[in-house]
Amino acid sequence: MLQHRPYVTVILAMSADGKIADFKYSAARFGSQFDKAHLEKQIAIVDAVLLGAGTLRAYGTTLTVSNPNLLQHREKTDKPLQPLHIVLTESANLNPEIRFFQQPVRRWLLTTQQGADFWRKRWEFERIFTFEANPGNEQLNQKINITAALAQFKLEGIDNLAVLGGGKLVAAMFELDLVDEFWLTVCPLILGGEIAPTPVAGNGFLENFAPRLELLEVKTVANEVFLHYRVVRRQEVNMIDVG
Ligand SMILES: NC(=O)c1ccc[n+]([C@@H]2O[C@H](COP(=O)([O-])OP(=O)(O)OC[C@H]3O[C@@H](n4cnc5c(N)ncnc54)[C@H](OP(=O)(O)O)[C@@H]3O)[C@@H](O)[C@H]2O)c1
Repeated sequence: MLQHRPYVTVILAMSADGKIADFKYSAARFGSQFDKAHLEKQIAIVDAVLLGAGTLRAYGTTLTVSNPNLLQHREKTDKPLQPLHIVLTESANLNPEIRFFQQPVRRWLLTTQQGADFWRKRWEFERIFTFEANPGNEQLNQKINITAALAQFKLEGIDNLAVLGGGKLVAAMFELDLVDEFWLTVCPLILGGEIAPTPVAGNGFLENFAPRLELLEVKTVANEVFLHYRVVRRQEVNMIDVG
């Protein structure tokens, strides 16, 4: 178990041409029932999920654990029935009317001081965390110090964290070397379009510096392929290079 931050698993579904949503950035609902069950299973094993504000704006809601076996397992292992839901947003510009705020989940907000102002006077978020990157020392142009936030989440008892997208958040997590496992469901459709989002947005990586993955398992169910990777740590890559 990691001492300094939660163990992080990214879970995404993608079209066969590598898009996580259509060019309108619609809510991605193209995964099958199997994919939904797979996502629910992943959510059911973690202490918290982290989602980017763009994803929340697209869906207006979040997936909760509803499978009785998964709920029973959480109960048996002394976990709350639902994992915590943590929303990452710089602007904190979220509509308080969306259904997410009526769902039976505990919600935390990770934002800037300015973003926090509006929500501090309200009930929707149980806790609000502000971890601003130092001015002039902003990590990779990020306004929020996600590394410091994750260290705090670990101290708050979050050992396992599922990152549910979207592409901007996942890019930041990879850029900061904060991802341990990556689940990708390849779904049988073509979304196309230059602006449609992909699993990892951001500035991209030069090939020599690209995060490397080890394939842990592949499952095929009907027309979907479930890919499960482990992220090879940078030190391991360096050792392989030296060796
Ligand atoms: N197929 C799938 O599995 C899947 C999963 C999730 C999402 N999606 C799709 O992805 C699309 C949304 O993509 P997106 O790129 O907008 O995703 P996103 O990463 O969910 O949202 C981007 C927003 O989240 C906040 N954010 C993300 N990273 C941040 C960082 N490092 N620091 C501060 N704030 C950060 C910012 O919010 P503010 O703008 O509020 O500052 C940013 O504008 C939707 O179409 C959705 O359907 C697909």
